[in-house]
Parts: sequence; structure tokens; C-alpha cells
Amino acid sequence: MNIEITNDGSPTLYVPELDEHYHSVKGAATESAHIFINMGLRHCTLNEVNILEIGFGTGLNAFLTLLDADTHKRRIRYTGLELYPLGEECLRQLDYPAQICPERSADYYRMHQTPWEEEAALTPFFSLRKVKTDFTQWLPDMRFQLVYFDAFAPEKQPAMWTPELFERLYQCLDEGGILTTYCAKGIVRRMLQGAGFTVERLPGPPNGKREILRATK
Ligand SMILES: C[S@@+](CC[C@H](N)C(=O)[O-])C[C@H]1O[C@@H](n2cnc3c(N)ncnc32)[C@H](O)[C@@H]1O
Repeated sequence: MNIEITNDGSPTLYVPELDEHYHSVKGAATESAHIFINMGLRHCTLNEVNILEIGFGTGLNAFLTLLDADTHKRRIRYTGLELYPLGEECLRQLDYPAQICPERSADYYRMHQTPWEEEAALTPFFSLRKVKTDFTQWLPDMRFQLVYFDAFAPEKQPAMWTPELFERLYQCLDEGGILTTYCAKGIVRRMLQGAGFTVERLPGPPNGKREILRATK
């Protein structure tokens, strides 16, 4: 896995076997903040939110969520699914907190040090449960109000983007629950609609991908 610097100065990982990046090369931190925080978390009006992330990866989305939860004093229970956890050395080299919020660096590394499968209260407003599992085989064990769908692209990992899996996500969301994703392809939109979601195409991040999707139950 190689580290590359994206257009907003934040790093991402490149996976040569898939010819795929973890984030948009136009700006990793900008993309995460736009799609998952601005269009997802801040669009949700609840004061207590259970979030499910498909593809925990570097924990960038979780870190931005932790910071937002503390700023706005909203209680977040975050479940992150990941089949291939990253090693500490890789995370230290990426060092997202240095760019995003150096004074909360300890929280970022604690997120990665907490044991898998256990819920850990990291701040008064944010708890994290990382689950080491294959999303395609995983069965939801609680209710959620928000899903960050951040799998590798459908053409790279089609098994993660199927009608059955979107139906499973629909079922574990409360009424009014939201799913956001960076991929606005017609085939993904139709799968989400087929599962029962109402789907909006929204502008992508500044200088980034053209459109993103927000699906509401
Ligand atoms: C596009 S990256 C997401 C990165 C992450 N959200 C972040 O901000 O760093 C996709 C992630 O999905 C994970 N993944 C791949 N196959 C998976 C599977 N079958 N089940 C769960 N996670 C998987 C990858 O290891 C990777 O971390």
C-alpha cells in the first residue's frame, strides 16, 4: 500500500492490487467532510445518532465525526466495519490529526487502539465499536439512523454493492434514516431505490467528484 498526497494536501492510501485509492485524489479530508459530515451527519437532526460505517479504513470519517460530535454536543454511537485493519505504522505515517486537529491527536490513535468488537467511550459524546468482519456476511445487531457507505468503487469490489446488501442496510435503519455515499452511478441509485430509499443526487465536494448520493428511508 502506498501513501499519496491528494489535492487538498491530505494523504490517502493507494492499493496497487485494486488500482484504487481509499479517498478522492482531489482531496481526501475535503471529500470525507463534505460527503459524510456535511451531507450526512449535519443533515440528520437527531441529538443522538447511531452511525454505521462500511469500510472503517484509516478512521478518517470516524475522527471527523468524533470532532463534530464534541463541537455540537451530540451523542454518537459509531460502529465501523472493517475486514482488513490497517497497521499502526501506516496510520502514523498518514497522521491525519496533524492536518485536521493536532490537539486531538490522542483521540485519533485511541480510536485505533481500542479492542475490536467492544464499544469504547472515547469522549463524553462519542463511542466507537470497531467490528472486524466481512460486510457481505455481516448481519446488523442494532438499529442505526445514519450509514456512511464508503466501500471501494463498485467496479473494483462489486460484491459490496448489491441489491441484497442495500436491502439489509435499509432494514436496520430507522424511519427517516440516511445513507450517504460518494458514488452517484445510475446502477447504485437504482439499487438504493429498489431497496426502498428515496435518493437525492447532491453536489460533490469542491473541486472533487461531480455528484454524490444521499438516500433516505
Ligand atoms: C474506500 S476504503 C474506505 C476508507 C475509510 N472509510 C477511510 O476513511 O479510510 C474501503 C474500505 O473497505 C474495507 N473493506 C474491503 N472489503 C471489505 C469487506 N468485505 N468488509 C468490510 N470492509 C471491507 C477496506 O479494507 C477499506 O478500508
